[in-house]
Amino acid sequence: MVKASSTLDRVLVLEMVRVTEAAAIAASKLVGRGDEKAADAAAVEAMRAALNELPMDGTVVIGEGERDEAPMLYIGEKVGSAQGSGPRIDIALDPLEGTTITAQAGPNSLAVLAIAEEGGLLNAPDVYMNKLAVGPGYPEGVIDLAKSPTENVTAVAAAKGVQPNEIIVCVLDRPRHEKLIAELRSMGCGIVLIPDGDVAGVIAVSNPETTIDMYMGSGGAPEGVLAAAALRCIGGQMQGRLLFENEEQVTRARGMGLADPSKKLGILDMAHGDVMFAATGVTDGPMLRGVRRTATGAITHSIVMRSKSGTVRFVEGHHNFARKPASFVG
Ligand code: FBP
Repeated sequence: MVKASSTLDRVLVLEMVRVTEAAAIAASKLVGRGDEKAADAAAVEAMRAALNELPMDGTVVIGEGERDEAPMLYIGEKVGSAQGSGPRIDIALDPLEGTTITAQAGPNSLAVLAIAEEGGLLNAPDVYMNKLAVGPGYPEGVIDLAKSPTENVTAVAAAKGVQPNEIIVCVLDRPRHEKLIAELRSMGCGIVLIPDGDVAGVIAVSNPETTIDMYMGSGGAPEGVLAAAALRCIGGQMQGRLLFENEEQVTRARGMGLADPSKKLGILDMAHGDVMFAATGVTDGPMLRGVRRTATGAITHSIVMRSKSGTVRFVEGHHNFARKPASFVG
């Protein structure tokens, strides 16, 4: 067996971008076409084909769902061209994060991939996760999911040297967040309500251009792990807690190896060791431009980063479809 870290060093960092580029290009054909399922299916198929080109013995730990509900990129699926001989890698992916956004040509949809050495990524079930994040530069422990939104905003404001009403919080626009939004409004905080896409929402705390200081509220647990992987690389703090609606979900989580499914998760519980994260914009957002289709192919904009080195690379890809394998063009 090859030790994963040596291959992470050598090839996988930049190869990851090809995978997210392929998914984004495939989905881009469906931007604004009103068909979420078709957009997702195109991205899934393209991402799977590209992943299978990578020289690794990969296992999907965060994917499109359980094996019986997702024919491709299901949890547990083996991917990579070096099964049994290559480095054992855990993979978290979302070929199209923001299916509705894509269908409606809204902002911030992404093709997303995170990888780590075996065991490095939380095997999160497909339930909701309560999420709390803040950008880089704050003292460790400034946020705490066990505390109220008011306490967290107050702590971040104090650490930033501003008043609580100067803090901007990103929240998914959902009826379940009514109480949270009311509490933030009562403090005078700015609220950036997003219709979908909380991976981008969480990452926004690390990008000063967004003006967003904090992320709060619940969204998909798989998206939470992807966001944690990104923040491990780019900087920032994040906590999460899985939210269960019934005993069956708790049992499933235990079956996935979570001894204490309801415990507060730190960023390292979600993504530890050497983690790498890549994303390609499908539609425009503050961090990444969406895919531009040209007469000869497409232009993509991606980010790829690694926790070990902290290097963040932006990659602009100019793709000539006449010279690409059909699996890439989608
Ligand atoms: P999809 O790409 O699967 O549609 O997910 C979009 C998303 O907004 C995620 O970013 C978020 O975590 C989740 O849906 C929130 O779920 P819900 O729409 O049920 O509130």
